[in-house]
Amino acid sequence: MSKALNRRKFLKKAAGVGLTFPFLGKFPEIIIPRRKAASKLPVLLCSRSEEWGKKVLNPAWDTLQHTGSILDAVEKGANVVELDPEDSSVGYGGLPNEEGVVQLDASIMYGPNHNCGSVAALENIKTPASVARLVMERTDHIHLVGTGALRFAKMHGFKEENLLTEKARIRWLKWKENLSDKDDWFPPADGKYKKKQERTTGTINVLGIDDEGNIAGITTTSGLSWKIPGRIGDSPIIGAGLYVDNEVGAAGATGRGEEVIRTCGSFYVVERMRSGLSPQAACEAICQRIIDINGGPENVDFNDKFVAVNKNGEVGCASIRGSKNKKPMVAYINKDGFKVVEGSYLIEAPVKK
Ligand code: GLY
Repeated sequence: MSKALNRRKFLKKAAGVGLTFPFLGKFPEIIIPRRKAASKLPVLLCSRSEEWGKKVLNPAWDTLQHTGSILDAVEKGANVVELDPEDSSVGYGGLPNEEGVVQLDASIMYGPNHNCGSVAALENIKTPASVARLVMERTDHIHLVGTGALRFAKMHGFKEENLLTEKARIRWLKWKENLSDKDDWFPPADGKYKKKQERTTGTINVLGIDDEGNIAGITTTSGLSWKIPGRIGDSPIIGAGLYVDNEVGAAGATGRGEEVIRTCGSFYVVERMRSGLSPQAACEAICQRIIDINGGPENVDFNDKFVAVNKNGEVGCASIRGSKNKKPMVAYINKDGFKVVEGSYLIEAPVKK
């Protein structure tokens, strides 16, 4: 059923029971049958450790307390990283593509009605998660990409801004000038730019459940650094970088997006939780699946990390690669306060990032 049809059906039903709505814009959260509160709810989590965890989750938690909306809360958390130029993997300050242009991907999903929206290869807008939310709530579509996504954002009043910070530009130039000694780009003669610029796929997942069991999630990223222009990772693909189901829980992915897309990673995690696995075991199961489809650990020189929460508010986190000094982490906040939990990893190996 299309989103428009779904909405029309709802309005007809609502009229039948005497409900009226002064606006049609926002997909009504009101229709959702409420679930009995569980003790660990509400909960908000993000795929980061202490420092970013606090930066993201404290304002997200405050938003949840003020508005009561789990969508507002996850959006607030995602926006914190998107707007911070110090993070080089999300939003403003994200590392650019091979042409030095920042292209952002983001998705959002709302559990009660399985509604979702996403933007990909979006340029010049600092908060792609908020644009994704508008795609979800104000269109009958799910994915908008490139210039179409930009036009849509501008129609909704978003300001076009330069997303390439000086720090990101210099890292890109170092990468470009050290790419080959057979092209026409030279690093400075003083050796200043000699350091090899690794490719990164940093991203953030922000997931949350309100005290009535309604689940929402966002994944937002600047994607793989130095990517081919137009490359879209897993973050804006529903089921890959993000999946949410009110009956089960939510999951999000970071790391090499191509692997997450070809395994429908976040959907896999949610479905494994549906079949009885804990969030931790489900995150480990997808990491194992990715290793398996690549023919074993010897063929895995990349990393992916998954975080998950089940409908009871239990969290899990696992990565493919890790080491004693570089374990995957997930941060969460609930009524008992803020916590960072160490996840597990399947292959002992140094992690580049
Ligand atoms: N997981 C982020 C990306 O591959 O773009």
